[in-house]
Amino acid sequence: MAATPEGRTPAGGQGAGDGLRSGGEQAHAASEPLIGAGVERAAAGGNAATASSRAVHKAGSAAAALPPAKGDSDLRGETPDDMEAPEGSLLVVRKLKKYFPIRKGFFNSHVGDVKAVDGVSFFLGRGETLGLVGESGCGKSTTGRAILRLIEPTSGEASFDGRDILAMDKTELRKMRRRVQIVFQDPYSSLNPRMTISDMLREVLSIHGIATGQKAKDRIAELLRVVGLRPEHAVRYPHEFSGGQRQRLGIARALAVEPELIVCDEPVSALDVSVQAQVINLMQDLQDQLGLSYLFIAHDLSVVEHMANRVAVMYLGRIVELADSKELYRNPLMPYTQALLSAVPIPDPRIKRERIMLQGDVPSPANPPSGCPFHPRCYHPLKDQDCANIVPPLADKGGGHFAACIKVPLGAGYNGRPPGSLPILDPTPPRVAM
Ligand SMILES: Nc1ncnc2c1ncn2[C@@H]1O[C@H](COP(=O)(O)OP(=O)(O)OP(=O)(O)O)[C@@H](O)[C@H]1O
Ligand code: SF4
Ligand SMILES: [Mg+2]
Repeated sequence: MAATPEGRTPAGGQGAGDGLRSGGEQAHAASEPLIGAGVERAAAGGNAATASSRAVHKAGSAAAALPPAKGDSDLRGETPDDMEAPEGSLLVVRKLKKYFPIRKGFFNSHVGDVKAVDGVSFFLGRGETLGLVGESGCGKSTTGRAILRLIEPTSGEASFDGRDILAMDKTELRKMRRRVQIVFQDPYSSLNPRMTISDMLREVLSIHGIATGQKAKDRIAELLRVVGLRPEHAVRYPHEFSGGQRQRLGIARALAVEPELIVCDEPVSALDVSVQAQVINLMQDLQDQLGLSYLFIAHDLSVVEHMANRVAVMYLGRIVELADSKELYRNPLMPYTQALLSAVPIPDPRIKRERIMLQGDVPSPANPPSGCPFHPRCYHPLKDQDCANIVPPLADKGGGHFAACIKVPLGAGYNGRPPGSLPILDPTPPRVAM
């Protein structure tokens, strides 16, 4: 058996050196590429992150997927950290971090950091919608705000239309903010209660030098019509609108400056389901008409299902899965995504979905777990010591389906398997009927 000295396990002790899987299972054939072959072992408790990134580079093009077995870990696959941005990318974000310092005591000493965003990388194309989903506190809003520099990122890269956002001075930032707008979850808090809608929109148009006088009046009437309101609404104050109408006003204000990208931070989360659908339809119509790109933040996968071209799932400040939305919903690779998806209701009373109930709470971003941040709650049957030691790279598991799980082999993504075949993972988590 042509085994590397490390055997089949890049980081675990099991099976090392004998070319056999830890469960005693015979590996397929000596000529087959080994899962994790050539990957350096991360010293237990050592710098696993460094070892894993080295491993990704070394893994090269070996693309064959073997069924996973106990003791195997697969760190292969390109990551968005290292790959070239696809042509036509409007927004490129790499290794973005935002740490909020924790200060304590009389001297206000720096005693730690809340790692709200911890190395996020993704690309967003023109006219594309990227959904960013995850539980409360996972860092979605912080990611959106750091990209717009509403808060200063700690490190990383972000560029818009080829321009480095983090290097922009005030004038350049102002210019960029005309092209990139944000819509918040609670439009009421972002609308000035003492200004009529007309005054508010007129101010935006004037600050950005877009229109004044009669031209501004015509533009305001047009904007209100575009978002499904009436021109006579312009004389009203924000409190004179319903929640759904206020969100339409938030969208009108964003559209006033003719942006190319809108960061939508949970724009429909506070609305009734029927109103949510209206606002989402409006946003999709606007995208079709104006060629807008959206970074659409939501905590619920069902909201982005029909809206997003691609979906990124965040957990504890990191993207743990990123794929074309159809692929993600059909073939979720990460146990965390599978659990989130199991909570999405199916609009067919004849179909019952079994809900995966995750055990334990989300750990604190001030003290994240070692290795895979999901490992204390993970129910994957192959979870082992590697999971606590290695920070899983967000690796392309095939066909542009990225997943940060070392127990998902290269080739598990869409292109690696015939469509319609069962996911490679067959987890047996605790389930309850819904
Ligand atoms: N200004 C701040 N100072 C310290 N910690 C912060 C600050 N802003 C956010 N955080 C922390 O950063 C983490 C990420 O927060 P963020 O608001 O980005 O989460 P989120 O995913 O948008 O959550 P939600 O779905 O509830 O809006 C949280 O733990 C939060 O407490
Ligand atoms: S998701 Fe689970 S199985 Fe995958 S690396 Fe993390 S702990 Fe391990
Ligand atoms: Mg938020």
